[in-house]
Amino acid sequence: MKVKFSLLLLSLLFGIIFIQSCKKDDDAESEEPAGPPVGTSFMEPSVQRAGNSAVGYDYLINGDYVDAGIPYDLYLTIFGEDNNNLLNRSGDNALLSPDFTALNAPNGVRVVAANCLQCHAQKINGELIVGLGNSVADFTTDQSALVSTLDLAVQFTYGAGSPEEAAYQPFGRALTAIGPHVVAPMRGLNPAAKLSVVLAAHRDINDLIWQESPLMPIPDETITSDVPPWWILKKKNAMFYSGGGKGDFSRIMMASSLLTLKDSTKARIVDQKFVDVLAYINSIEAPEYPEATDTDKVVRGQVIFENNCQACHGSYGVDETYPNLLVSLDKIGTDPLLASSNYTDGGFQDWYNNSWFSVFPSAASFTPEDGYVAPPLDGVWASAPYLHNGSVPNLETLLNSTLRPVYWERSFNTSDYDFEKVGWNYEVRTEATSTNIYDTSIPGYGNNGHNFGDGLSDDDRSDLIEYLKTI
Ligand code: HEC
Ligand code: HEC
Repeated sequence: MKVKFSLLLLSLLFGIIFIQSCKKDDDAESEEPAGPPVGTSFMEPSVQRAGNSAVGYDYLINGDYVDAGIPYDLYLTIFGEDNNNLLNRSGDNALLSPDFTALNAPNGVRVVAANCLQCHAQKINGELIVGLGNSVADFTTDQSALVSTLDLAVQFTYGAGSPEEAAYQPFGRALTAIGPHVVAPMRGLNPAAKLSVVLAAHRDINDLIWQESPLMPIPDETITSDVPPWWILKKKNAMFYSGGGKGDFSRIMMASSLLTLKDSTKARIVDQKFVDVLAYINSIEAPEYPEATDTDKVVRGQVIFENNCQACHGSYGVDETYPNLLVSLDKIGTDPLLASSNYTDGGFQDWYNNSWFSVFPSAASFTPEDGYVAPPLDGVWASAPYLHNGSVPNLETLLNSTLRPVYWERSFNTSDYDFEKVGWNYEVRTEATSTNIYDTSIPGYGNNGHNFGDGLSDDDRSDLIEYLKTI
């Protein structure tokens, strides 16, 4: 009896140990594996130089990083004054629209040049938002057609061989070279990535001096993109949709200077100033959603976000997190062309990674990945259209892929915004009869992939959108 009892006790004890060990195994299986989710990889940070944001803002809107252009008086004659002075600038800059700057060319002539806000500022409902990607600009025509007219106007007004002509010339020359290579298939799409490739091809790899004939082949295709907002950069370890911009961000950002830059001596000066421009960009906060939101829906939407989106996009509010993940093309399923072309364009990568830009101690590199960065979603309400190629008009259709239009047209009026579906008002079309119609059937412009909202109910999606308005 005693033996039997202790056997029973023993088997009970074993049973408990067995159950316990099974439980442990179960727990281990249900735990998230350490490291990023399957199909994603972590992007390593790099050291950045510290700068002064106020100095950077001043340089951004008044500075001479593009230092050739149309002589000031002639510019006003052709394009007229802009009396809104939205940036509250002083002197002759007060008469220019925010995306142009009056500055002294190296020979002292006052010229007007395009600044970064051409592509990195836009109005919504009458409010100019500096740092919002410009999604209405029209790059569908070859700008080089303008050059012969501009050349003639400069010569006629100031005389051939005049200082004004000399101050204008690097701009005209660049426009002629880039024009045919940077034509976008549809309005709202931006050819900046290709612009960098064309400008690099015309620059000596070491001293950056302009070369009349390109030094490397320029790819035929022009793959354009939507412009990301500036306020998300402060969280990111790598720049650009494909995570290609690595190392010193200030140096990467000054690529626009290649438009008219004389040589690497000037590049070193601009490079120093761009440390401050980066500080300014990192100081920009996402704009707040301007309308009321429903608190109950927001609370429910946050839980849906935490369960379905946070692993890739991070968390928002107090103690926010951002995982800095690159998502493979297989996993994300969005149009692969931008990432794969960045990834395979060895010519530009070789140029960049051996050029002046790659020189220490503030070296930058262009090393794109075969996938897309899962971006921070701060202020995402303002940055429609969505995805890297801007193929999806609003959040409602982003979160329900069955509703995404194949052909769609918006008015390009920046007050024509839908604050409920969050994005641009649009009409569905049956074919692309003008460059104002987004045509998702063109290679590079597909609207497939990112189906993470498809499994949710309509109510859940609606709550999720309410939450996305608030982050
Ligand atoms: C012709 C339009 C254009 C101009 C001018 C321009 N950019 Fe951009 N910028 C873009 C586009 C398009 C991208 C996105 C490219 C990509 O990710 O493939 C971009 C990306 C960036 C990014 C990276 C954002 C991120 O989250 O990865 C920064 C920062 C930036 N630009 C700063 C600048 C600065 C500073 C200037 C002026 C010196 C400038 N840009 C001029 C179009 C432009
Ligand atoms: C596996 C990672 C992953 C998950 C999960 C995920 N996303 Fe994304 N998301 C991405 C990537 C990568 C992109 C960029 C894709 C591109 O541009 O082609 C993106 C883009 C977006 C964009 C567009 C941003 C812009 O400005 O164009 C929004 C909005 C967004 N995601 C919201 C969500 C929401 C809401 C969820 C949850 C339902 C979610 N995502 C789940 C990886 C993810």
